[in-house]
Amino acid sequence: MATVSAPQREMRAAVSATKLLIDNQWVDSASGKTFPTIDPATGEAICQVAEADATDVDRAVRAARHAFEHGSWCKTSASERGRLLNRLADLIERHADELARLESLDNGKPYAVAGAADLPLTIACYRYYAGWADKVQGRTIPVNGDYFCYTRLEPVGVVGQIIPWNFPLLMQAWKLGPALATGNTVVMKPAEQTPLTALRVGELIVEAGFPPGVVNLLPGYGPTAGAAIARHMDVDKVAFTGSTEVGKLVMEASAKSNLKRVTLELGGKSPNIVFADADLDQAIEGAHFALFFNQGQCCCAGSRLFVEEKAYDEFVERSTTRAKRRKVGDPFDPATEQGPQVDRDQYDKVMGYIERGKKEGARLMCGGGRVGDRGYFIQPTVFADVTDDMAIAREEIFGPVMSVIKFRDMDEVVARANRTEYGLAAAVWTRDIGKAHAIANSVRAGTVWINCYDVFDAAAPFGGFKQSGMGRELGEYGLQQYTEVKTVTVKL
Ligand code: NAI
Ligand code: MG
Repeated sequence: MATVSAPQREMRAAVSATKLLIDNQWVDSASGKTFPTIDPATGEAICQVAEADATDVDRAVRAARHAFEHGSWCKTSASERGRLLNRLADLIERHADELARLESLDNGKPYAVAGAADLPLTIACYRYYAGWADKVQGRTIPVNGDYFCYTRLEPVGVVGQIIPWNFPLLMQAWKLGPALATGNTVVMKPAEQTPLTALRVGELIVEAGFPPGVVNLLPGYGPTAGAAIARHMDVDKVAFTGSTEVGKLVMEASAKSNLKRVTLELGGKSPNIVFADADLDQAIEGAHFALFFNQGQCCCAGSRLFVEEKAYDEFVERSTTRAKRRKVGDPFDPATEQGPQVDRDQYDKVMGYIERGKKEGARLMCGGGRVGDRGYFIQPTVFADVTDDMAIAREEIFGPVMSVIKFRDMDEVVARANRTEYGLAAAVWTRDIGKAHAIANSVRAGTVWINCYDVFDAAAPFGGFKQSGMGRELGEYGLQQYTEVKTVTVKL
């Protein structure tokens, strides 16, 4: 199964961008250091990538600052910024198949899924924000006295962006789209597990015609390059997606340096609530998708699956049958539904939770083990009789482990759904429109799906309540996080 397939080998040979992008130049890191990026299907290195550290961050921030204040970018009109973003979207579309292969190789997600989901969503995100570029408007305000008062929405400035490995291309788009539409300049650190597609997009950014210094890309590690961005005195804002633990470090670094603006998109433990009156066929398939999509590596995974008592036994049995059918294997096989976890750390973390689930008394219905003897493949795993106090019901697993929890009625399930430090997403499955909206109104989460799951659109805001984050990405709300409001008052 985990043999290196022909398309993978071809891709390895074709990797073109492995250096740092600073001021539109591809350069080695100041230290000359490199790090390997791993193919999670085999555990072998794909290639070496330049490793940025504080010195490189400093250099990139200077380039970004120059572009923001003196370069041609600050004179680039809003409509021209939109045109550049559209050109980038066109280039990504032209190279969509190549990018889907590279994403699959570096991340382990099935190539077919990358082509059907990650690429179209990425392209749509750039186009969406391209459309906004010349529509970000201030207001005129009727103040007292003989004055004319208006607001301008100005770019925040030099923006640091630190992104994760679960959706490398898409997270890059969510961050670059609104930042560039509103005229900021960017210093971005892709995740150390998955730098390759971000760098390939860097080549397309240069080809699209973005001026030097507008987008700088610094592959490297979190505690070095990432932390250097978070504490930099000349970075005006940092946008971060990743663990809640590191999110707190980023915020602390902001507080201890220059109070840079901080937006965070963090972890989750999202309740997915199935009432007995739901269309069970749809709910079972929907819950399967909600949990297992992307190898379970989704911040909004439906990882607390609450099922009403009356439907519980049937639901568990049929969900187990569905999970057993899930096809795990070579990411380049078009029939594959599930590839490997992204790296050894994630594999170990997930396996650790499976052990804890067993120890704490959850009933293992299927899975629980490794698939094959190379790479980081894990069997789709279903636990029944999970209770709220178990670690698998409280902590983010980020893997293919479903926890099915029983509930009796509406009030009880709402209280239990909200008993978490997180608040990223939730879903409800029912044919009763009253119940559906009651849940939507009372669950403390940034996104609620009714009779569906993981429906994303560039126009629909996404982000967390509580410790799932601060601020929103996507939609018009996503734009607001990249502008400062300036009030101008004129004596008449
Ligand atoms: P992480 O939070 O350590 O990494 C995310 C990004 O932050 C990466 O680019 C990383 O290099 C960077 N980073 C790490 N330490 C940093 C620091 N001190 N300062 C600045 N940047 C730093 O997440 P990791 O270790 O990859 O995964 C751990 C867990 O986090 C996962 O098991 C999962 O539960 C959660 N996670 C959540 C994601 C989400 O979409 N919200 C994405 C990735 C992970
Ligand atoms: Mg980490």
